[in-house]
Amino acid sequence: MEKLIVEGGHRLEGTVVISGAKNAALPILVSSLLTAGWNVYQNVPDLRDVRTIERLLVDLGAVVETTGSEVKVSANAISSHEASYELVKTMRASVLVLGPLLARLGKARVSLPGGCAIGARPIDLHLKGLEQMGADISLEHGYIDARADRLKGADIYFDIVTVTGTENLMMAAVLADGETTLKNAAREPEVVALAETLNQMGAEITGAGTPEIVIRGVNELGPASVTIIPDRIEAGTFMIAAAITGGDIKIAGCEPRHMEAVIHKVRQVGVTVKEEPGGLHVVGGEAISSVDVKTVPYPGFPTDMQAQFMALMCFANGLSVISEAIFENRFIHVSELQRMGANIKISGSVAMVRGGTRLAGAPVMATDLRASASLILAALAAEGTTEISRIYHIDRGYEGIGKKLAELGARLWRVQE
Ligand code: EPZ
Repeated sequence: MEKLIVEGGHRLEGTVVISGAKNAALPILVSSLLTAGWNVYQNVPDLRDVRTIERLLVDLGAVVETTGSEVKVSANAISSHEASYELVKTMRASVLVLGPLLARLGKARVSLPGGCAIGARPIDLHLKGLEQMGADISLEHGYIDARADRLKGADIYFDIVTVTGTENLMMAAVLADGETTLKNAAREPEVVALAETLNQMGAEITGAGTPEIVIRGVNELGPASVTIIPDRIEAGTFMIAAAITGGDIKIAGCEPRHMEAVIHKVRQVGVTVKEEPGGLHVVGGEAISSVDVKTVPYPGFPTDMQAQFMALMCFANGLSVISEAIFENRFIHVSELQRMGANIKISGSVAMVRGGTRLAGAPVMATDLRASASLILAALAAEGTTEISRIYHIDRGYEGIGKKLAELGARLWRVQE
């Protein structure tokens, strides 16, 4: 395994170009299962999770051709309807194949994903919605066995806002018999991007981006040709990099209107954030003010930015109260930040971050994707050198992050553990 060595204290400046969004690419790649034609996807990020979903599509019988950031997929002949435990346990988003396989084939056998570092991550709402659409769901030996001659439209209400639950059921509904309504649906830009892709394929979806999505089932879909939207979480992470190093970074190719909550919070900290043609210009100041934040479903402050924001608050001048209201265990990065000298106290789903001390470099361990980003950000501003082990987590969701940071003036390199 590799570890990342980061030398702290270097101000970052220059321009970074944001890659395609992981959480848009994954469901859109899976939507290729809904048609026999050749789908063409541009601006697909080169990430471990994208390669994993491509492997799953090939296991199911699809043909995948990747040329740089262009990926072509044809699920002309699906030869399997099973997503194995080996694959699903490495990436929970694999459960997204449930809806499309049921819609296209009438059957699916998908391993229960199991929990992950940030929580139990149940998929009960996915399964309940599919049952409401007429699917027979049985659980045995850790696998979900789903069958349905033809799914039928249903009125589905999500007890909790679920991003992939909304996406899974949207994909199940596009070929169902009749109309499906998803209420209390997720409103993320990635959900809207999937709906736009499905509509280009011939689906009839209205309301994506609002809490109520209506899908009128059709008999057949054609292929899509779309460009993946920019990654708002990668862009937000680079905003924090500018703030935490007192730097000056132009974040090109991002979509500010997908990032309003994060922009608002970073401005509250005292950072200058200017919207410019094609992106954002972020200039960190001398002082960093402590600001409270609570993670909520989109368009509120995203849980995927919580760990990164906490790293910044460690360098602020007061007390920041950070509430994690989406996942039950998304404070794993706290113990690692404490090893660097951070003054953080956790009480249930709330972390109290007292700034005012400069963190010091230390050996720390990455535990999940966004925790890795948090540790890199802290290391960029800490005194001395930080060694981050198990850095493979970061490669799941940040394309070429080491190169991008080095081009902004960071001093970091990978070594074998
Ligand atoms: C998506 O995960 C994202 N992943 C996550 O990004 C993101 O953190 C999360 O949405 C929240 O925004 C992808 O899009 C691939 P949820 P998802 O279903 O869909 C509970 C990253 O770092 N819930 O919206 O799995 C669940 O436990 C990743 O890029 C149920 O109880 O999250 C959680 O508390 C991490 N039952 C809450 O809902 C269900 O059936 C929100 O989860 C489904 C979810």
